Amino acid sequence: MADKDNDAWNATRRILIVDDDRDLAESLHDTLESKGYIVETAHDAKTAQALAGKFNAQVALLDIRLGRANGVGLISKLKQQHPEIICVMMTAYRSAETVLKALRQGAYDYLTKPLHPDELLATLERCYEKLHLEQERQRAEKETAALLEENRLLAQRSIAVQEEERRSLAGEFHDELGQCLTAVQADAETISMLSKDTHPKIHESAQAIVTVSREIYDVVRRIMQRLRPTLLDELGLLEALEEHIAQWHARYPTITCELAVAGELDHLGEAINITVYRIVQECLTNVAKHAHASHVDIALRRRPDKASNSEVLELVVKDNGKGMGAKTMHRGLGLLGMRERTLAVGGEFAIDSAPYQGMCTSARIPLARPRETTGDSINAD
Ligand SMILES: Nc1ncnc2c1ncn2[C@@H]1O[C@H](COP(=O)(O)OP(=O)(O)O)[C@@H](O)[C@H]1O
Ligand SMILES: [Mg+2]
Repeated sequence: MADKDNDAWNATRRILIVDDDRDLAESLHDTLESKGYIVETAHDAKTAQALAGKFNAQVALLDIRLGRANGVGLISKLKQQHPEIICVMMTAYRSAETVLKALRQGAYDYLTKPLHPDELLATLERCYEKLHLEQERQRAEKETAALLEENRLLAQRSIAVQEEERRSLAGEFHDELGQCLTAVQADAETISMLSKDTHPKIHESAQAIVTVSREIYDVVRRIMQRLRPTLLDELGLLEALEEHIAQWHARYPTITCELAVAGELDHLGEAINITVYRIVQECLTNVAKHAHASHVDIALRRRPDKASNSEVLELVVKDNGKGMGAKTMHRGLGLLGMRERTLAVGGEFAIDSAPYQGMCTSARIPLARPRETTGDSINAD
């Protein structure tokens, strides 16, 4: 219920009395009206339901026996119409079984007849206190959800800015540093060629410059690739991952890595592509740095998700290394960054590990509805 509606709903205290004993209903009506409540009365279940549709009562006082009908059965019907309505049963005899049944059906409390005015008013006070608390809880829940969403959008924005910054840095590396290194290398090659027969020492030094500048170029290329995986833009997610894994394996040949994919992985959108790529990148770095593993399995699956009537992308990275226990688990920037990236695209992130059981990192990212049902392109940006 929106806050404005809440205020309107709270403006008056409205009570629905349902009792087939007309005299009792009448006197109850008068007592409550004299205390400022707005009251409507029904003498059978059918009228009560019709009334509840028009009269927005916050509390219903229900006789447990309504002629041949049962007041307990009315609870769920009234709650269908007004989920917030609080039902208090009135019973002339204290049958534990009936009262229990009513409470199980969602009744909040019960009063025994003959009703004692003080007890009645105290019970109603409790009902309104409960309503107030429930409204506060809903308001707080809504505020928390809004804050979480705001947080997610902020994280999304800051990740996008970070990626953009990295992209421009990679561009500068390529355009400035790359060009300079190429020039140094070309000049050194010329000097080396010109001095080959006349100045052997200069020739040797020039050759050394050529070798070093090539090495620097390789380092710069690796940094560029790390800053911005250009393959992701050029070839798509799968090829970029395969290339990254191949390069990683070349650097750590004692650890094998297997990538299993399922489902269409093109057109996932820039935000999801970079999320998956960065998670795989961080996981493989962690395996090399911390795990003492001999094998890593990476699974990337796109599959339908019944719960959301849509699709999800699941990424699982599992190594067979030393793992870590919950107590010793220290969350560094790598783990935090992976979690933040996953949450920013609306997904869920989990780590499962125990000492000597390896480490399993998983991310589950919801995708937009499948093309067949909506005609939209798949992009969760
Ligand atoms: N695959 C792994 N196997 C065992 N321990 C790991 C693994 N990945 C991460 N860890 C542990 O979790 C810690 C936090 O990881 P991370 O957040 O990436 O920070 P960092 O790599 O900078 O230490 C690591 O220091 C390490 O102790
Ligand atoms: Mg790390």
